[in-house]
Parts: sequence; structure tokens; C-alpha cells
Amino acid sequence: VWKYKNLIHPEIPEKAIITRGEGNTMLYRNARISNYSGVDKIFLKHEGENPTGSFKDRGMTVAVSEAVRLNFNKTLCASTGNTSAAAASYSAFGGIESYVMIPGKNVSANKLFQAIAYGANIVDIEGDFDTAMENVKKAIAKRNDFYILNSLNPWRIEGQKTIIYEIMEKIKPDFITFPAGNLGNTSAFGKALMDLRALGVIDYVPKLVAIQASGASPFYDYINGKEDTIHPVKAETIASAIKIGNPVNYKKAKRAIEFTKGIVEKVTDEQIMEAKREIDRSGIGCEPASAASVAGVKKLKESGIISRGDTVASILTGNILKDVSLVSEHKTLSIQDIFQ
Ligand code: F0G
Repeated sequence: VWKYKNLIHPEIPEKAIITRGEGNTMLYRNARISNYSGVDKIFLKHEGENPTGSFKDRGMTVAVSEAVRLNFNKTLCASTGNTSAAAASYSAFGGIESYVMIPGKNVSANKLFQAIAYGANIVDIEGDFDTAMENVKKAIAKRNDFYILNSLNPWRIEGQKTIIYEIMEKIKPDFITFPAGNLGNTSAFGKALMDLRALGVIDYVPKLVAIQASGASPFYDYINGKEDTIHPVKAETIASAIKIGNPVNYKKAKRAIEFTKGIVEKVTDEQIMEAKREIDRSGIGCEPASAASVAGVKKLKESGIISRGDTVASILTGNILKDVSLVSEHKTLSIQDIFQ
């Protein structure tokens, strides 16, 4: 991430930087995924291969460095799991305390485990992510000793821009697809492309394609319904990372979609889990929400918006180990099956 320091936070002194070597993730090509999606040149950018297993590390290295630079000793965030894991790790690594508000019943146990193990103070919120986010906003209005680590914090967005810089250094995608919840990535990716265009580094703008889960798709309704404002919904989806009904970054995200002449699509839980199975069996693997990236490509290919010959970068936002709930459903072989 810090390779791009001049584009994200030029003034920060080197000694304030809290980094675990995040970024520079793999860009995979795989025949199984090309066949499945119907797009030959589909590339998978694996953000699950970051230190805590998600893209959040890119934003967290910048935001926690800023917290340290400003002499805060407490951080605070709401989370569907990955933000809290990254916040807990980077805060601990920077020698400061973290507080995370988590809708315990709606978060994967693996992510909660990470936050606990890294030593975060856990506030279990009755309700969903949106309730937790409301409580974070109230807490920072009441107290000034917490440094907020949600994507409302512009430094998170600055760090997450580097996903796009890395992709654009390697390929020239027509479309960039990714799962969208609180819309931090959508905002960051739009800003990254605006930067590159303004600097004359790129001579065209790829289309951003934000994919929501159909049970948690207020941004889809807002953009495609041409509504004046976003209408919060009660979110419901198997992809707990993007189970968000009231995204905080929707205004910035709208600008990103407009700037890139992008698309907002939605996919069902069945489509997400089918895509996850393909990604897992390709040997690459990802968490459920991440598979929405590829499920969305397949859907847009079928509806004729993406063509077989287009170049597509799909972002896998989280690691396969982030959610191991499939294990309990899996039938194992008996030892006799092997000896036969
Ligand atoms: N994919 C994964 C794996 C995520 O954890 C998230 C968000 C998203 C996609 C959506 O990104 O919010 O920028 O639109 N997770 C947050 C969290 C909300 O608390 O971990 P977004």
C-alpha cells in the first residue's frame, strides 16, 4: 500500500506508519472460473490474501497510522466482522486499544474470534450492523477520545484505492466487479480512477460494477430506481459481510458509479453460494460475500451487458477461512470407502 504513499497520504512521517505488509495481492486467472462466468479474460484479485484476510487491511494501515500520528490511544468501529478483525490487529500492532461494536448474532464466528484474539474490547450489539453503526456515530458525538475506523473515515478510503492502482498497473479491464455493502470500496475505487485519470496515468475509465445481495440492496434500488435518496431496508442475506441495509457512503458511491458510467447489480443468495462453490473448487477460495463479484459477472454476461471477450477484474474481498459454516454440512467418507 505504501508504495503509493504520494497518492494516499504524502505528509505522514515514516515513523507513524503502522504496516503489516498489506497489498500486492495475487491477480489470478483460472479456466474453471472463465467457463463458469462465461468471460474468458476474468481476473480474480484476491484481497483475502492480506494479513488479516480481507481488503480492510489496506484501509486500516492508513487509518491506524493516522490515529497514531494524532496521538489517539483508542479506536472504535462497527462491523460485520472483517473491519473489526483488521481494526483489532492494526490497533494492537500500533500499541493502542480497540473497541468494536458487533451484531454478535450476525457475524461469522471466525471473524469474531480474530477480534477477540487480537485483544479488542467487544461490544455485542442487539440488532444488526446498521444498529451498530448508529451506536458508533452516537459514541463519537458524545466522546472525543475514540478514533473512528469505519469507512466514514476518509483515510480508510485512501488506503483502499490501492486495489485499483494495482489492478490498473497490470491489466486494462473493461469492468471491475466487487461486492458492495457499506459502499466504502465503491467510493474508494471511484476516487482511485478519478486520481489516475486526472494525472493522465490512464487514457480511459473502466466501469465499476457494484454487486449487492438481493436481500440487502438499497444502493441497487437507489441507483436503478432513480430515487432522490437512499431508502434503508431491513437487510437479509447469507453473505453476512454485506448484510447492510443503510450504507453510510452512498453519496460518494453514487459519484463513483456516475464517473465510471458504472452499474449496480444484485444477486440472490443461491447465486452467491453457487459462485462460491466454483471459486472454492477452482482452488482459489473466498468467503461468501466475495463470491458475489463472480456471481454478478455471470449474471451480467447472461443479460448481455458483459461480453465473452471483455476483460473483467473481479475482487475477492475476503479469505476462505473467514467463514467455515460449510464444514458442518459436509458429508465425510468412511475409512471403508478408502480400503475398498
Ligand atoms: N466483502 C467483504 C468480505 C466485506 O467484509 C465487506 C464489508 C464488503 C465486501 C463490502 O464492502 O462495505 O466497502 O461496500 N465489510 C464491512 C465490515 C462492513 O464491517 O467488515 P463495502
